[in-house]
Amino acid sequence: MNELLSYVFSPLREGDIALYRGSGNGLAPILLVAAEETSLGCVERLEHEYALKAELDADWAARPVALTHYNDRLTLVLEDPGGAPLDRLLGRPLELSHFLRIAIPLAGALRQVHERGLIHKDIKPANILVDAASGGVWLTGFGIASRLPREHQAPAPPEVIAGTLAYMAPEQTGRMNRSVDSRSDLYALGVTLYEMLTGQLPFTAADPMEWVHCHIARQPMPPNERVASVPGTLSAIVMKLLAKTAEERYQTAAGIEADLRRSLAEWEATGRIGPFPLGTHDAPDRLLIPEKLYGREREIDTLLTSFDRVVANGTLELVLVSGYAGIGKSSVVNELHRALVPSRGLFASGKFDQYKRDIPYATLAHLAGTTCIQNHHAHAEGTCRVLYGHPFSRGLGDVGGVDEDRDRGSRRHQAVHQLKAFFEQLDVQVSKASDVAAGVR
Ligand SMILES: Nc1ncnc2c1ncn2[C@@H]1O[C@H](COP(=O)(O)OP(=O)(O)OP(=O)(O)O)[C@@H](O)[C@H]1O
Ligand SMILES: [Mg+2]
Repeated sequence: MNELLSYVFSPLREGDIALYRGSGNGLAPILLVAAEETSLGCVERLEHEYALKAELDADWAARPVALTHYNDRLTLVLEDPGGAPLDRLLGRPLELSHFLRIAIPLAGALRQVHERGLIHKDIKPANILVDAASGGVWLTGFGIASRLPREHQAPAPPEVIAGTLAYMAPEQTGRMNRSVDSRSDLYALGVTLYEMLTGQLPFTAADPMEWVHCHIARQPMPPNERVASVPGTLSAIVMKLLAKTAEERYQTAAGIEADLRRSLAEWEATGRIGPFPLGTHDAPDRLLIPEKLYGREREIDTLLTSFDRVVANGTLELVLVSGYAGIGKSSVVNELHRALVPSRGLFASGKFDQYKRDIPYATLAHLAGTTCIQNHHAHAEGTCRVLYGHPFSRGLGDVGGVDEDRDRGSRRHQAVHQLKAFFEQLDVQVSKASDVAAGVR
């Protein structure tokens, strides 16, 4: 875009996705979001954000106006609403009325995102523009925003989950057996408000899997225990946003906005914020059925206890789960994802599908494939190459699909050998399992 040449740009943020502010005589102020095109997913994010432009409103978002190439980088041009990225104001606790004057319009902006039927999925200070003078707050970074009211996040390796691990709702990590919906944004809002109140994140972690563990299992220290001047009520509001299960959080951004407004009114009138019942204006606008599993505590407990024994003793165990189609077998087994995080266990699955009976070893190939994907980041690159190169991870390229009877015996024999080698790569003993595999058709 030639018009960009007339602008003078100043950097607001460097990195894979850099942010610049552009100004020029008589020109409309703009922001440039420039992506490193070699970096995974960056281009798709900018394209996605640009595609959402009709749904983003200048009252609460920095609106995309063009997607172009500039200085050899794919660049998204946004209307500049003014203000500074919130992450620049953090690092120390914000003064209380300053906090409330940002938090209220921030909750309001998020309410409007949700009213549009969008889930932002990457709420964090770096994606929030704040203008202290006008009291305006705008959201950016809609690169992974979703139009679906709820969606399932697969338990991908934490290094590749879209979003920002430090701010990510437990269900967004894919290890909670629960869907992502607008309440996932409210958790990320909770982390952001926590950081505004205390100057620190609720958790610290050394690697991606530890971040996942923090969100799904560790309790954060309440803000008022970290910083004594934080009123108990504000601390409780933030802790309610940080609840592990979505049902226990605020259900709507409007609900938290109302409680923050009440806090500000009390603060301005009396100089303190007394306790009051939270969430009195928090009625969800749609029916939300809790995604809880009912009546399966005993089964889940059996599974988890068995897994704990394996971790503690290093012995092999086999647990069989049986039941009619659709009774809830997979749902019970998926509860294991959460338990696998601290011990960095791997989860592999493959389905014996009645309509795929004609494909030899389809289930084993699927199982091998899912293990490889998870392993990609968890193990040394060398092992990965071996696993990826293995016929099982390639859908049994040179074994599967064989249907000439005379070949079957020897091919199956070969497949069992390969499967055994595959499991050995994973440090799994298969002296017994190979017999089982030999019986699989
Ligand atoms: N205990 C439960 N409480 C609430 N919902 C449940 C429960 N068990 C299963 N469901 C729901 O029932 C549906 C089917 O469950 P699931 O897919 O786990 O069954 P399945 O036995 O694995 O089926 P299939 O035999 O087809 O593999 C899912 O939508 C799941 O959320
Ligand atoms: Mg199932």
